[in-house]
Amino acid sequence: MAHKLLEGKKGIIFGALNNMSIAWKVAERASEEGAQLVLTNTPIAMRFGEIDELAAKTKSIIIPADATSEKDIENLIAKTMDHFGGKFDFILHSIAMSMNVRKGRPYNDLNYDLLVKTLDISAMSFHKVLQIAYKLDAIKEWGSVVAMSYVAAQRTLYRYNDMADAKALLESIARSFGYIYGRERKVRVNTVSQSPTKTTAGSAVKGFDGLMDFTERMSPLGNASADECADYVITLFSDLTKKVTMQNLFHDGGFSSMGMSSRAMLMYNRSLDCKDCPDYINDEKDISTNQ
Ligand SMILES: NC(=O)c1ccc[n+]([C@@H]2O[C@H](COP(=O)([O-])OP(=O)(O)OC[C@H]3O[C@@H](n4cnc5c(N)ncnc54)[C@H](O)[C@@H]3O)[C@@H](O)[C@H]2O)c1
Repeated sequence: MAHKLLEGKKGIIFGALNNMSIAWKVAERASEEGAQLVLTNTPIAMRFGEIDELAAKTKSIIIPADATSEKDIENLIAKTMDHFGGKFDFILHSIAMSMNVRKGRPYNDLNYDLLVKTLDISAMSFHKVLQIAYKLDAIKEWGSVVAMSYVAAQRTLYRYNDMADAKALLESIARSFGYIYGRERKVRVNTVSQSPTKTTAGSAVKGFDGLMDFTERMSPLGNASADECADYVITLFSDLTKKVTMQNLFHDGGFSSMGMSSRAMLMYNRSLDCKDCPDYINDEKDISTNQ
């Protein structure tokens, strides 16, 4: 349901590849809420992705940019300002890629050239976007910049690999730049730490289905979908969250505050030879009442 929360607002959305992408869902919701958009992705992603369809649906223009290239970002932001006739209101950074993950290199056998690429694409690109937007004075007062993160920045998750380091850097950039951007221009900068979500990037992590099942069982509200993530991001672009900045905001159904849940314990116990366990351990009905 649309509430016109972004009526009159304008922004750039990085990272819509196909209709599973978190950025795709955010673009659809932002458009429903009245925003005008510029969509961007790498030239190669444009060939393989479906961004033209999203642009037609949201009446947006597309400006290609590799988010690791300062020249491309400068061109993107300058052209966006021309298109909108001046400053704009928000940016979504929804970008990640690890060739170490893709090539199956474990964390104790990383290729360092690939690690540098992971950090550049998935985290330094966020700094580049912020720095260039700041230098071009592209974002209006009370504007909002959001980047997508994951709980692997704080906790170790099997197989998340060098993406964990990239997310830790991304969240740190949001704090460090958020201070300067807030102090000097009243622009807020936050990261949203989303549940595992079935997208092209998400599915690159081996064992992703098992991870999604685990987090679903661990989260009291269940995993957050890409559509629900879009709803949340819209609030961060809106004027309802003007004093929220420098935060990593968990949007994960409660997962990040959990240690063990009854539903996860039940699955775990099923795999144990639990002859000596109290009865409730093996009883699905009982376990939910034993907190
Ligand atoms: N899917 C999940 O489980 C999950 C969970 C938490 C956070 N996230 C984060 O959400 C964000 C979006 O990922 P997604 O899950 O929607 O997957 P996705 O594959 O749909 O999106 C990733 C995007 O990054 C873009 N990209 C890669 N290299 C780029 C570059 N050099 N310049 C510009 N764009 C580039 C890709 O083209 C793609 O559009 C990522 O930051 C990801 O880490 C995803």
